[in-house]
Amino acid sequence: MTQPALHNAHLPTLFLSSDDIAAVVTARGLGAVIAGVATCIEQDFVRWEDFDKSPRLANHSKQGVIELMPVSDDTTYSVKYVNGHPKNFMTGLPTVMAFGCLARVDTGAPTLVSELTLTTAIRTAATSALVAKHVARPDSTTMAIIGNGAQSEFQCLGFAHMLGIHMFRLFDVDATASHKLARHLANAGLLATICDSAAQACESADIVTTVTADKTNALIITPGMLAAGTHLNAVGGDCPGKTEIHPQVLASGPVFVEFEPQTRVEGDIQMLDPDFAVTELWRVFKGEATGRTHPAQITVFDSVGFALEDFSAMRYMGQAAHDLGLGQALALIPALADPKNLFALLEQPHQRRGPSLVALDTFKMGSSALHMPVPVPVPSTSPTTQGRS
Ligand SMILES: NC(=O)c1ccc[n+]([C@@H]2O[C@H](COP(=O)([O-])OP(=O)(O)OC[C@H]3O[C@@H](n4cnc5c(N)ncnc54)[C@H](O)[C@@H]3O)[C@@H](O)[C@H]2O)c1
Repeated sequence: MTQPALHNAHLPTLFLSSDDIAAVVTARGLGAVIAGVATCIEQDFVRWEDFDKSPRLANHSKQGVIELMPVSDDTTYSVKYVNGHPKNFMTGLPTVMAFGCLARVDTGAPTLVSELTLTTAIRTAATSALVAKHVARPDSTTMAIIGNGAQSEFQCLGFAHMLGIHMFRLFDVDATASHKLARHLANAGLLATICDSAAQACESADIVTTVTADKTNALIITPGMLAAGTHLNAVGGDCPGKTEIHPQVLASGPVFVEFEPQTRVEGDIQMLDPDFAVTELWRVFKGEATGRTHPAQITVFDSVGFALEDFSAMRYMGQAAHDLGLGQALALIPALADPKNLFALLEQPHQRRGPSLVALDTFKMGSSALHMPVPVPVPSTSPTTQGRS
């Protein structure tokens, strides 16, 4: 006998919106959340060999890039969708937008679907500050931050909380962005000086963070700009043809990377010989490789963002949401009484199954706002049609 589908029954999938992530931050404080994500990242990088890793899959266009970032261990699969479109601000959209999911490896069932736009800023700052904790001079107090857009507050507050950095030297080609960052840092009780150039920002900085967005081989940091002993946290060069650091600056210090096969293609080191020596972070975190070996060394973190950081961030946010009672059940995968009878779901098509989370404004704006691909009519003279009578 055919069993009916369990109407309104779905597998348990937790949905975390950007409001939920903001609520986690409100409850715990941004510094503590960044530090918590950093702890998860370090724990996961230390068990590097447990993960099935691959460079992300990138689809490039003139305007930017859209990437898929998968990684898994024996129990959990993680994937992130993320874009990078440096000119998006001109149409009121962020440069970086992201979402992702965790799933069970044993069944493939998704357990968590989350926004990752805020979370990407948090996990990128967490990784940067974690690396600097291992590699920057421990007496660092001042950071230059070049590029004062969406990621910049997260970087500064991560370094403030995890390393005690309390003076920031800001530069952006857009002065409005620097004033916005200065205001937010002042609200957090941190000292901010707006500078006239990247070179001026680097003066007397112990740490230099570059987090600009431009799809070009930019030269934000050139030879002579960094004092001996500086740690360079190079975040914005993360795509072929999109770099920030002069090759001689990269070559001047030990370079630390997340996942070498991906960074060779996407990082600033894409401009160096393919055999230029780099050290993967997991080896430093595990104590198998040294970070800084001398106070006068220039050290470089060539950050591009690796899937394992998103895995760690989603596991932190999933646990935090559970502890704080945040998130909503997402009616994503139907629970079927008979898993071979998917068709049963269509037997009462008039019944609404599962809650809708929010009324989509785009529906009010009309279906064109959804940007659905329009089918192209098959030409009547196509070879297939011609061959038939
Ligand atoms: N490595 C990672 O894991 C990671 C993660 C997220 C974002 N990113 C990258 O970080 C960069 C910044 O991201 P965002 O979301 O803050 O972008 P954003 O567009 O909000 O901000 C970028 C800022 O850089 C400024 N800028 C551009 N060219 C500059 C220059 N030559 N000198 C000084 N300032 C300049 C812009 O005016 C803008 O204010 C992007 O390139 C993004 O792809 C990297």
